[in-house]
Amino acid sequence: MLISGKEIMQHAYENGYAIPAFNFANMENLQAIIQGAEEMNSPVIIQTSQGAIDYAGAEYLADIGLGAAHRANIPVVLHLDHGQKYEYCLKAIRLGWTSVMIDASQDTFSENVSKVKEIVKVARPLDIYVEAEIGIIGGKEDDLVSDKEIYTEVKDAVNFQRETMCDSLAIAVGTAHGVYKGEVKIDFTRIKEIRALLPVPLVLHGSSGVPLDMVTKAVHSGITKVNFDTELKLANLDALQRFLKENPGVYDIRKMFKPCRLAMKEVVKAKIAACMSTDKSWIIS
Ligand code: G3H
Ligand code: ZN
Repeated sequence: MLISGKEIMQHAYENGYAIPAFNFANMENLQAIIQGAEEMNSPVIIQTSQGAIDYAGAEYLADIGLGAAHRANIPVVLHLDHGQKYEYCLKAIRLGWTSVMIDASQDTFSENVSKVKEIVKVARPLDIYVEAEIGIIGGKEDDLVSDKEIYTEVKDAVNFQRETMCDSLAIAVGTAHGVYKGEVKIDFTRIKEIRALLPVPLVLHGSSGVPLDMVTKAVHSGITKVNFDTELKLANLDALQRFLKENPGVYDIRKMFKPCRLAMKEVVKAKIAACMSTDKSWIIS
């Protein structure tokens, strides 16, 4: 069933597990997420970046995202990931997204605050969940490139949430979007410090490539939503390359994308286990 972010995020926040969030851009990608979450009995957030919307079209993604959510036997949130403009967020809300991220983290503190407040004002009466970001997460996601990384200051996180009244907050604690070049280092102490002072759930971005035990440690430290994208793309690519090598001459898209969907589903299930959201689908009945 389709739900807003509030209920599942609050339950996870209060009970020490995290809601896994996966990006999708096409049907196989989406089916892998939903099937994986159903097999694990886990609530799930399906999310679309601006790049996915540019690729497939917002209306089309709304059709398949909402359709999949309504048909699923687990709670599903349709979330806009890294919405960089008021207009993008508004359009998503109008089309049926139940949760939006307004990402003005590259702006100054006060510009970021005022952009988030604008969205909260529109979203709150409609029961749309609002995620914001403070600090700068490094790496590349679609057209969003950050060559610098600025860890979130504890006092900034507290002041920012107090001023914006956002529902959840993405923080920069060492993870990066895309493929990691070196060893992953997460500032777990910073997560704990922010969690202790903030009355809302924290979000970890750039979680592909983070070892599963570190994902779980981040959740134990106070993370309530964990975002995964790149690893699904890599699993898809790997399965497709293997299939084409082993089956030269096959041109049926159904045959070639079946193993891709399966490979993505296995990634989804492993991430759900690391988030400890297995068997938590009952929280919404
Ligand atoms: O917003 C989406 C995520 O932060 C995904 O990051 O591609 O490194 O998994 P990732
Ligand atoms: Zn992200």
